Amino acid sequence: MTQRVPWVVGVSGASGTPYARSVLTALMDAGLPVDLVISRAARLTILDETGISFRDAHWEHDLGLWLGREPADVRFWPAGDLAAGPSSGSYPVHGMLVVPASTAACAGIALGLSKDLLQRAADVNLKERRPVVVVPRETPVSRSHLEHLLRLHDSGAVVLPASPGFYSGAQSLGQLVDFVAGKVLDAVGVQHTLYQRWSGELGAARP
Ligand SMILES: Cc1cc2nc3c(=O)[nH]c(=O)nc-3n(C[C@H](O)[C@H](O)[C@H](O)COP(=O)(O)O)c2cc1C
Repeated sequence: MTQRVPWVVGVSGASGTPYARSVLTALMDAGLPVDLVISRAARLTILDETGISFRDAHWEHDLGLWLGREPADVRFWPAGDLAAGPSSGSYPVHGMLVVPASTAACAGIALGLSKDLLQRAADVNLKERRPVVVVPRETPVSRSHLEHLLRLHDSGAVVLPASPGFYSGAQSLGQLVDFVAGKVLDAVGVQHTLYQRWSGELGAARP
């Protein structure tokens, strides 16, 4: 039997839960397993941005509501479970995507605080030299935010701000969201068709 090797997706409490939804959906479309961690604060942003109250005990139902489809090959770990698989470097994963990343999560990961499973799992993946992508969503940013992002970069993380490009001919909010999600997957080499790539010709993507 082949070993299940997932991507860990950490959803923290920054605005931008649609980015997480798009990344999760694309990973499932690619047939890739996911280990999912949703911070306590992310429950508030999910509630605020979708109206869904995400409950640990009913995660599969609530995740299905959020994604609008049956979750495929997702293992959910409560954010407070510091004994969970992804809290150890010996637990096999490809790496971690923190999307969206709050400034608090960026600080906690950069400083190695491991205050919850999301931060611990990211710290573990950095120390194991596995790919970690962090998608901060805050504007403007303070000096300390920038310092934490620089530390993350220096620790090997890809810092990928949630800043969609407008060159791919997006016609809807969903397409702008998918652009950011697509860049997250590009950073870790996962195939997708989430956005139209630059062709080398000005205006080619304009409808
Ligand atoms: C509705 C809502 C929106 C928020 N948006 C952001 C945001 O865009 N960026 C950010 O860094 N924090 C944002 N926050 C604050 C974080 O949720 C807060 O700093 C929290 O401590 C983050 O915890 P976590 O990193 O454990 O998820 C928001 C909070 C709420 C309730």
